[in-house]
Amino acid sequence: MYELCPETPADTPEVETLMDLCFAPGRTALSSYRLREGVPAVAPLCLLLRNEYGVPVGAIRYWPVRVGGKPVLLLGPVAVHPTTQGEGLGGFLMRESLNRAARMGWARVMLVGDLPYYGRFGFRKLEGVEMPPPTNPERVLGLELVPGAWTGVAGAVERETGRDVAAGIEEMRRDPPQGWRCVEVAPKGHSAG
Ligand SMILES: CC(C)(COP(=O)(O)OP(=O)(O)OC[C@H]1O[C@@H](n2cnc3c(N)ncnc32)[C@H](O)[C@@H]1OP(=O)(O)O)[C@@H](O)C(=O)NCCC(=O)NCCS
Repeated sequence: MYELCPETPADTPEVETLMDLCFAPGRTALSSYRLREGVPAVAPLCLLLRNEYGVPVGAIRYWPVRVGGKPVLLLGPVAVHPTTQGEGLGGFLMRESLNRAARMGWARVMLVGDLPYYGRFGFRKLEGVEMPPPTNPERVLGLELVPGAWTGVAGAVERETGRDVAAGIEEMRRDPPQGWRCVEVAPKGHSAG
């Protein structure tokens, strides 16, 4: 039995501890953290999974960024406690949060990670999308929640400077990508109950 809830400020110390446990020391030196500094996370998509004892076993976070001036969701970090890895919880967090992102109206998602893992969720290598150095371009991956949403979107990944992190969504509603239609990322495996 697991409980899945959006992360609240009261949860944050526990989530940080989980991230520290799952990642190599110095994780905050990664270039993706520079894009998050001073920018509020997309709160409805930052999810925390607790086990039946209330212990945090998995978490995922998202931030808004811009690529070529277009609004993009930056996925990560995602982490599952080492004692529960390989049980499908990471996949559940990915699918559930991506479903929620699509329902919110986000069109395109990116991350820096391993294609052999993220490819199973539909992520593909992005061409011409440049993360701040040092980032291996082979690890810069993208997913379309709306068909064609990454077409013609390229350039440097930049911090979201809009005051409202939901501004990107409003912008997409005003200027929808061609063929605007939300795609459901079918959840499978674990359920939250
Ligand atoms: C990556 C992570 C979130 C996956 O969570 P999980 O609950 O173990 O994932 P799932 O159980 O849904 O999937 C496990 C599968 O993914 C594979 N996998 C996990 N990490 C992988 C990677 N980096 N590259 C390729 N495959 C990977 C496992 O081998 C397993 O494969 P299988 O289904 O063929 O047996 C978790 O392993 C983790 O927290 N790792 C440390 C932190 C990290 O690297 N986070 C991602 C970078 S942002």
